[in-house]
Parts: sequence; C-alpha cells; structure tokens
Amino acid sequence: MPKPVYCIVAVAQNGIIGRGGRLPWNIPEDIEWFMDQTEGGVMIEGPHCYKELSKALEGRGTVVISRQTEKIFPGAERASDLAEALSVAQRMPWTGPIWITGGERIYAEGLPHCEKLYITRIHRNFEGDRKFPSDWPSQFKRLTWSKDGTFDGLNYTFEIWER
Ligand SMILES: NC(=O)c1ccc[n+]([C@@H]2O[C@H](COP(=O)([O-])OP(=O)(O)OC[C@H]3O[C@@H](n4cnc5c(N)ncnc54)[C@H](OP(=O)(O)O)[C@@H]3O)[C@@H](O)[C@H]2O)c1
Repeated sequence: MPKPVYCIVAVAQNGIIGRGGRLPWNIPEDIEWFMDQTEGGVMIEGPHCYKELSKALEGRGTVVISRQTEKIFPGAERASDLAEALSVAQRMPWTGPIWITGGERIYAEGLPHCEKLYITRIHRNFEGDRKFPSDWPSQFKRLTWSKDGTFDGLNYTFEIWER
C-alpha cells in the first residue's frame, strides 16, 4: 500500500508562514502537534527548513529537496525535485504518512499531491517573507476536525481538511 501524502503547516491570517528563516511566532502547542502528527512518517522539506531545525528529527524519516548534489544533510535523504522526493519517501521504512512540511515553494508544488491538509490557523496578521498558497480553500473542501487554542494572548485553531 503506498503511503498517503499529507501537508502540515501553520499559517497567519494574512498567509505568512515564515520570516528571516524562522517561524514568526512561538506556539509550543503547535510544535507539539507537528511532532505528534509527523512521528513515524516521512517529512519532505527544503534546505532552509532543515537548517532551521538544525538536524533531521528523530522518530521519522526526512527527505530534503535540493538541486545542489554536493550538499549533505546528515540523517536525511536528498532528492533533486518533488517527484524524486515522493518516490524516495515511499521506499523509506517508516510506515506513517508522507508529510509535506515546507517551505514556500515545496508547499506550492506539494499541495496538489496531498489528500489532507493539517493547518494551524493563527488568528492574527504577521510580517514575513514566506507565504502559504492562498488558493488552498479551492483545493480542500471538507473540514473534518478542528480544535481551538490560545498561547500568550494569541488565538489559533488546529484544522484537518480533506478534498
Ligand atoms: N509556518 C509553517 O508551518 C512553516 C513550515 C515550514 C517552513 N516555514 C518557514 O518557511 C521558511 C523556510 O522556507 P523557505 O521557503 O525559505 O525554504 P525551503 O523550502 O526550506 O528551502 C528553499 C530551497 O529549497 C530548494 N527547493 C525548493 N523547491 C525546490 C524544487 N522544486 N526543486 C528543487 N529544489 C527546490 C532550493 O534549494 P537549493 O538551492 O539547494 O536547490 C531552495 O533554495 C522559514 O521562515 C520557516 O520558518 C514555516
């Protein structure tokens, strides 16, 4: 059975997902949510995301998409494009889903391949330099689960969407 492909992201009200190579917010419950969901699966990410985490996370596989063949990402596989990353991820021994985990271009290219979208909607605008595709609501029509949260006066909602 091929692994399903899902997307996981946290997005500000104005579509921002990153600023200066970092997350623009600090929401411990969202990090915990990300770690819990992706455990046992395979993450597909870009080199900036790998650098932000500073390593491959334990308890899951990682495939980094980079066209630079000389680059090494300890603990992770490297792929030259999304198609190669998806086939490498399918062959890895982790049995959980394949997770598209960003950044900007990998979300844009990966989203059409995803069965489900795990989105944390942060109910505030943030300044930033990376965005999530604004057309995601036209791709995902069924909200199947949601849960509200608050941290340090910042309100957010975890949502799971299907096509
Ligand atoms: N809010 C969230 O949930 C979330 C999630 C993830 C990331 N982020 C934020 O997003 C930012 C990092 O994302 P980013 O967009 O800057 O970087 P990124 O996706 O981690 O890395 C970009 C690099 O990926 C490679 N790449 C991207 N698309 C490719 C393709 N189709 N084929 C081959 N290589 C490709 C290129 O590297 P090469 O030059 O090596 O080929 C490109 O320079 C940070 O601010 C981070 O905090 C937020």
